[in-house]
Amino acid sequence: MLSAKASCDSHGQDSFYFLGWEEYEKNPYHEVQNPVGIIQMGLAENQLSFDLLESWLGSNSDVLGLKRKGISVFRELALFQDYHGFPAFKNEMVDFMAKLRGYKVAFDPNNLVLTAGSTSANETLMFCLAEPGEAFLLPTPYYPGFDRDLKWRTGVEIVPIHCSSSNDFRITERALEEAYQQAEKLNLKVKGVLVTNPSNPLGSTMTKDELNLLIDFAVTKKVHVVSDEIYSGTVFDSPSFISLTEAVTERSIDETDIWNRIHIVYSLSKDLGLPGFRVGMIYSNNQTVVAAATKMSSFGLVSSQTQYLLSNMLSDKKFTSKYIEENQRRLKRRKEMLVAGLRGAGIGCLNSNAGLFCWVDMRHLLSSDTFEAEKELWKRIIFEVGLNISPGSSCHCSEPGWFRMCFANMSQETLKVAMRRIEAFVEFSSSTAAALDNCNHQRAAGRNSRRSSLPRWILPLSSYDDHEEADRTLTIH
Ligand SMILES: Cc1ncc(COP(=O)(O)O)c(C=O)c1O
Repeated sequence: MLSAKASCDSHGQDSFYFLGWEEYEKNPYHEVQNPVGIIQMGLAENQLSFDLLESWLGSNSDVLGLKRKGISVFRELALFQDYHGFPAFKNEMVDFMAKLRGYKVAFDPNNLVLTAGSTSANETLMFCLAEPGEAFLLPTPYYPGFDRDLKWRTGVEIVPIHCSSSNDFRITERALEEAYQQAEKLNLKVKGVLVTNPSNPLGSTMTKDELNLLIDFAVTKKVHVVSDEIYSGTVFDSPSFISLTEAVTERSIDETDIWNRIHIVYSLSKDLGLPGFRVGMIYSNNQTVVAAATKMSSFGLVSSQTQYLLSNMLSDKKFTSKYIEENQRRLKRRKEMLVAGLRGAGIGCLNSNAGLFCWVDMRHLLSSDTFEAEKELWKRIIFEVGLNISPGSSCHCSEPGWFRMCFANMSQETLKVAMRRIEAFVEFSSSTAAALDNCNHQRAAGRNSRRSSLPRWILPLSSYDDHEEADRTLTIH
């Protein structure tokens, strides 16, 4: 019944990233109504600074009431808007982006295309820059949504740039070259490289060396670079954020050919915590790309009401300065809480300075160094411990045992519960392992003996029968 396009399975919907969300929806944690439910740690949402936004809205009720100086602008906003967006909003957006980069770079509002979130911005860029069957190189691990956003409707292929824990998953010249050769082997023409800076899922910013490596690569191979900088306002620790635009400008090659092949993606989903508002954008110095993307933006415009509200909010410079600083301070505190909690459970994380998540090293908890073992651990963590975290395999990580854990989409109390659960799980797992070693008895590994010694709060989460049912429906990809 469905078209080949609609039924094409490159969406990635069956990855553990999305399956974890489904499991969470069936049994969501609530501190009073469902204290044994699943805690959502697989969603990169920023709920830490809503009070600041709400307080601004409270003292600017005219804006919420769609009024300007007391006079209604309802009719003006309700009417058809063209796909260029409101000039006032675009001016505020470019100023906000420059502010997040310490005004080291300036952005021209004429080079901005508004889109319904970064999801739409990334897809639009793929439509503009590559034919179906052409490729973009992406460093792994990468945001699981990219399989949907970049590939699904465009027919573009992703070829991984394999990064490894041996250098904190940094991009190397060799890894870039290997990915390029791999694409050639697969007969795929490489049109560009797409990075997230700061990285989702690593939570770290790219170094100047990495950015220069990318620029050199794009110059030599004559390909595009898309830098998804959706987390640029979340950088809460040193080293500070260096945007791709800044790195290019510093090399004084901003007037050369490469300048036309650099494209920035941004959105207010993370920095302002407004994913529901669907505000994203493409920034490109390439007028042909800007014109094509603007035409395509009819499929995902930002509503005029939202533009009106946010242009007013962003024009309050005192507010934005305070917001950025306070939001980063809260994110840093929250991340430290997560890191300390995990450390208490003997679990380490990659050093990070940005984002709404940590990249967590659970390799020592795997029964073997395989993705099969990672899947087993993920299932135990979601069904027995009640935490939905995203396994590295869903981010296309090439090493089993890494997981992404989000920390900004819940209250501090919920995070504490999550940390207590993981600590109990690790303790339980190591005592079970020790018991197994000691008695050296096959039956000790049996289901019944495990069930009887599970911590008390774990039992009501899911029965082993449910667990087995899930086992049948979950397949690894
Ligand atoms: C790197 C990255 N790009 C894009 C998106 C999609 O964001 P938006 O809500 O703006 O569509 C996300 C969301 O998690 C993301 O992490």
